[in-house]
Amino acid sequence: MVRRREFLKATTGATAAALSASAAEDNPVRVGIIGNGNRGTSLLGRVLRIDWAHVTALCDVRPEASAKSQDLLQTAGRPKAETYTGSPEAYKRMLDRKDLDVVIIATPWDLHTPMALDAMRAGKAVATEVPAAQTVEDCWALLETRDKTGSPCMMLENWSFRRDNLAVLNMIRLGLLGDIVHCHCAHSHDCVLHTPWYFDRKGNPTWFGGKLIDRNCDQYPTHSLGPVLSWMDIHCGDAFDNIITVATRSLGINHMFAEVLGKDSAPARRRYAQGDIVTSLIRTKRGNTIVLNNDMQLPRPYDNRWMIQGTDGVYSEERNSIYLWRRSPQAHEWEAFPPYQDRYEHAWWKPMADPKNGKDQLAAGHGGTDPLMIYKFLEAVRNRTPLPLSLEDGLLMSVVVPLSGQSIAGNAKAIDFPDFTRGAWKTNKPYFALDRKA
Ligand SMILES: NC(=O)c1ccc[n+]([C@@H]2O[C@H](COP(=O)([O-])OP(=O)(O)OC[C@H]3O[C@@H](n4cnc5c(N)ncnc54)[C@H](O)[C@@H]3O)[C@@H](O)[C@H]2O)c1
Repeated sequence: MVRRREFLKATTGATAAALSASAAEDNPVRVGIIGNGNRGTSLLGRVLRIDWAHVTALCDVRPEASAKSQDLLQTAGRPKAETYTGSPEAYKRMLDRKDLDVVIIATPWDLHTPMALDAMRAGKAVATEVPAAQTVEDCWALLETRDKTGSPCMMLENWSFRRDNLAVLNMIRLGLLGDIVHCHCAHSHDCVLHTPWYFDRKGNPTWFGGKLIDRNCDQYPTHSLGPVLSWMDIHCGDAFDNIITVATRSLGINHMFAEVLGKDSAPARRRYAQGDIVTSLIRTKRGNTIVLNNDMQLPRPYDNRWMIQGTDGVYSEERNSIYLWRRSPQAHEWEAFPPYQDRYEHAWWKPMADPKNGKDQLAAGHGGTDPLMIYKFLEAVRNRTPLPLSLEDGLLMSVVVPLSGQSIAGNAKAIDFPDFTRGAWKTNKPYFALDRKA
């Protein structure tokens, strides 16, 4: 069992001796999952791959959602978990359990912060889905509560753990791209008819769709920014300074529903505040720039468009290519990235078979990214070591939601970022995904 005092040690950076392998065998991590919908079920599947992670509690307002998760436990040959359901407050009873070390939160966005605050106050380690918060005030509340309670808290930004992004991180840390100055990133994902992400089949909004009616901002910036933070040493020598955001008019959702449900249908006639394409320009304290797009309501294939550029070269995820000055065979010509992927493979992506049963922990879901992220989070809680992604980084990615909205509303006004490190970014050393090679 992982105790609160030990969490405190890990989060305040005091040396916490890692457990010896044999002691760790007796050290299960007990997990509860709030929100047993689409993502909560998927994360449960990741947890179930880890022998020393025991799911003791499940919570959802909808009993049928928790029942489905119970079925997954049974299929995996795991003991039944206690279910908390039937009311929006049921999760609070779950937090009273003594046999619970970790709470994973996979509920609609507005619930992430209140649930994470309650879980930290109850002495649990928290993993919250993205974004961690919806307002600047909620970001500070999470940070202050983490510091006061000593309960570790991490936002589950999975694209930080992606295989290609980690190989690029290794290359950047080895200096192959020179000094980094600029980056592009995007979340381009057509979700209008991706039932039931935004709307049900009749065009009624889900909790996410409701946000598109109510507000105009970068609703979902964390997947784009995840790898960018470590690539650009954000919070470790550099920091976000300010953001300027513009949005196009909103045509995509109305157009889609006019075609699918008829131009006189209520969803086709409804007013959506959310612009189709949101473009933010982030400037860093060091004088670097990031162009960030949110593009989730026009028909298109999925894309992240990561591009990072330095004084010695450029990497393009969209082209699966790289150009390194004086190294690439042809001057000013792209070369294929896959050989670099092999050469600079991150240690986290080496096969990770469990010595006891030979099961590969990384074989499924987002190409293995989600299992890796969940494994690394639970491993840190279990070993009482710092979490793989800091809460400060998660909050910085999340705060783009309200700041981009403020900038759009202010006619592309530049909005300053809060400093969640309280000045520590100036002296912090890179910490994320340190690889012996880099
Ligand atoms: N990282 C990723 O790749 C990824 C992918 C999908 C979703 N997500 C995130 O996961 C979260 C959930 O998304 P989803 O697609 O699973 O949505 P969903 O609607 O399928 O699931 C949300 C669940 O929360 C439950 N819920 C609502 N209020 C509750 C309460 N008070 N107590 C307990 N349960 C409650 C709902 O009944 C539902 O089952 C969102 O934050 C989303 O952004 C992340």
